[in-house]
Amino acid sequence: MNPLESRPAKPLSGAMRVPGDKSISHRALLIGALAAGETVIEGLLEGEDVLRTAAAMRALGATVERGEGNVWHVRGRGLGGLTEPAEILDMGNSGTAARLLMGILASHPLTAFLTGDSSLCRRPMGRVRAPLEQFGAQIVTRGGGRMPLAIIGTADPMPVHYRLPVASAQVKSAVLLAGLNTPGRTTAVELQPTRDHTERMLRHFGAEVDVAEEGDGALAVTVTGQPELTGREIQVPADISSAAFPMVAALIVPGSEIVLTGVGINPRRIGLIDTLREMGADIEIRNEQAIAGEPVADLRVRAGALAGVAVPASRAPSMIDEYPILAVAAAVAEGKTAMHGIAELRVKESDRLATMARGLAACGVEIEEGEDSLVVHGCGGGIPGGGAIATDLDHRIAMAFLVLGLAAERAVTIDDSGPIETSFPGFAALMNDLGAAIGPAGETR
Ligand code: S3P
Repeated sequence: MNPLESRPAKPLSGAMRVPGDKSISHRALLIGALAAGETVIEGLLEGEDVLRTAAAMRALGATVERGEGNVWHVRGRGLGGLTEPAEILDMGNSGTAARLLMGILASHPLTAFLTGDSSLCRRPMGRVRAPLEQFGAQIVTRGGGRMPLAIIGTADPMPVHYRLPVASAQVKSAVLLAGLNTPGRTTAVELQPTRDHTERMLRHFGAEVDVAEEGDGALAVTVTGQPELTGREIQVPADISSAAFPMVAALIVPGSEIVLTGVGINPRRIGLIDTLREMGADIEIRNEQAIAGEPVADLRVRAGALAGVAVPASRAPSMIDEYPILAVAAAVAEGKTAMHGIAELRVKESDRLATMARGLAACGVEIEEGEDSLVVHGCGGGIPGGGAIATDLDHRIAMAFLVLGLAAERAVTIDDSGPIETSFPGFAALMNDLGAAIGPAGETR
C-alpha cells in the first residue's frame, strides 16, 4: 500500500507528453511476436500491464528486448510458431493482456495456464471463452468464467462469424487474433463501434482486414487468416486515456493552461474530448498528423467554467475508460451531469460505478448511482474534498481522485497509488512538474 494525497494546486502550466498508449503498446508486442522478422517499437508504454504482455510473449518463444532510449525490439516467431510456455502466465492487473493473449493462444496447438492479480481474477473471461471455443479451443476457468484458467489451443481451428453481445474491443480483438492463425475468413460483428487499434495494426503488419456495414448499422470486421505478417516499425502515440487526467486537471484548476503533446486521437477514443467540449471546455487540437496508421495531435487545454451535460449511452465505447475522470469534471461543473449506459464500468479493474460513487460522496459531492448510470450534481466550483478514497486496485480511480484533490477545498487521500504504475508510470512527478501538489500523505505542504 502506497498512500498519496493531493491538495489544491496553483495554476497548472507547461507541456507534458504522457506515456505511450496502452492499447497500442499491447498490440505492438503481441502482433510483433507473431510476425516474421524484427519489429521496432518507439514510445512503448513501460507500465506494468504492458510489461506483462512482453513477459508472456517471451515465455511463448519470442525475443522481446528493450534497446537504447525506450526503443523495443521484438523478433517474432512467425505466425503459428509460438511454443508452449513452461510456466504459468501471470497477466497481473491487465484484462487487455489476458483477453488478447487468449485469442492468440486459441489457434495455437499448445496448452497454457493464465492467472492475474485479485482484480483481474474477479473479471469475466466467459465473454472471450464463448467465441474462442467456436474456433475449437478448450478453456477451463474457475466458477463464473473467472481466472485462473487453462487454455488448450486447437491445431485445427475453424473460422468463426461472431456477433459480439457486448461492446468490447477486447472481445473483438480476441476473435480477430484467433482468426489470424485460422484458415479462411473470421468475422467479428460489433453493434457499436469500439477502438480499432487491432484492425489498424494488423493492416500495418500486412494482414487483410475488411470492414463492412451491415443493414442494422452493425460493423462486420473480417480478417483473412494465415497472412504473411512481417516485422514493422511502430511509433506509439501518447495515451489519450492517460492524457485525460492532466487534461481535466487543467480544466478545473483555475488559471491553468497546458499542452499535451503527441496524443493519439483515434476517432473511436475521443468521446471525452467531445463531452468536455459540450460542457464548455476550451480544448484545441493542433498539429494533427498520421503516425504508423494512427492519428496524433497536440492538445492545448485552458481552465474555464464547465456546465453539466447528459452523456448518451452511444458514446460509452469511445470513452469507456474516461468515466472516472469525467465524473471529476462533472463534480466541479455547474449543474447535473448524467451518464447513461455504463454498466460495463462494473467489470473494469474495479466496479467503477461503485468506487466512483463512494469516492465522490466521501468528497462531499452529491451523486445518484443506478445499475448502469451515474448522475453527478456538480458543486459549481467548490468541491469540499477531504475524502479518504479506497481505490480497490484501480489505477484510474487513483488518478481521478488525485486530480479531484487539486481543485477541492481540503486534501484528498488515496489508499494505494501502486496500481498507477500499470498505465501511467511517473504520474505524480509529471503532474507536479506542471504545478500540482501530489505527494505522500502529510507531506504536500
Ligand atoms: C481495451 C478495451 C477496453 C478498455 C481497456 C482497453 C483494449 O476494454 O476498457 O482499457 O485495449 O482493447 P473492453 O473491451 O472490455 O471495453
